[in-house]
Amino acid sequence: MESRRRLRGARRIVALTGAGVSAESGIPTFRGPDGLWNQFRPEDLATPQAFERDPVLVWEWYDWRRARIAAAEPNPAHRALAARPDIALITQNVDGLHALAGSRDVIAVHGDIWTLRCVDCGAERVDRTVPLPELPPHCAACGGRQRPGVVWFGEPLPADAWRRAGEAAAHADVFLVIGTSSRVQPVAGLAGLAKLVSRAWVVEVNLEPSGSEADAILQGKAGEVLPDLLDRG
Ligand code: OAD
Repeated sequence: MESRRRLRGARRIVALTGAGVSAESGIPTFRGPDGLWNQFRPEDLATPQAFERDPVLVWEWYDWRRARIAAAEPNPAHRALAARPDIALITQNVDGLHALAGSRDVIAVHGDIWTLRCVDCGAERVDRTVPLPELPPHCAACGGRQRPGVVWFGEPLPADAWRRAGEAAAHADVFLVIGTSSRVQPVAGLAGLAKLVSRAWVVEVNLEPSGSEADAILQGKAGEVLPDLLDRG
């Protein structure tokens, strides 16, 4: 298969993952019939204005998501990627399952649901307690309100993660787009960047083609496609 041949010959492989990679761990995706954005309105829960308006409501939703994620385990897709430390890994997921599977140095462009950040002084801490004892939680340093350390609609991406993601894409020979609808910018543009700047071969792994700029589409569950695709044997 062409994609396998390209992967074997590649010097730099980059993988970009989305919610579909954690679906087989039981974590809901955002779009599609069972997606979170079909049941909840992002403007009520995932914007700075929503947090300003009703921090408790926003935190209740994140606390619920944290509990679901805490009960989940990495699946074969996370493990197949963790077994390939030579592949630069960019994720839109905030669940931390790539790290739990053993991936190091994950470029988390949409932040991390386990990080709490003070809206007043910016101090951050990682706290995996579920449920959180007080909503909203408060900063130990200054007493300010803490928010989830994730990127909300209308916010810029964390500068360092975004710089690293762009650099990785610009040097990729093969760029894997795994389990993402490729609908959310600027991250959805990384595959195009990889093609344009480094003439990367773009392979999409998804249940259905997402309309990304893929040269090849491997249709199926990430947990079934990746172990074989990334196996070096
Ligand atoms: P989406 O929910 O938009 O897309 C999930 C994709 O995964 C879809 O294309 C599905 O077809 C595919 N999929 C589902 N199950 C799969 C499986 N087992 N194997 C392979 N593919 C599967 O999720 P994202 O593209 O990650 O942003 O969404 C991007 C961003 O939108 C998220 O990071 C989040 C959301 O608003 C923030 O929170 C900032």
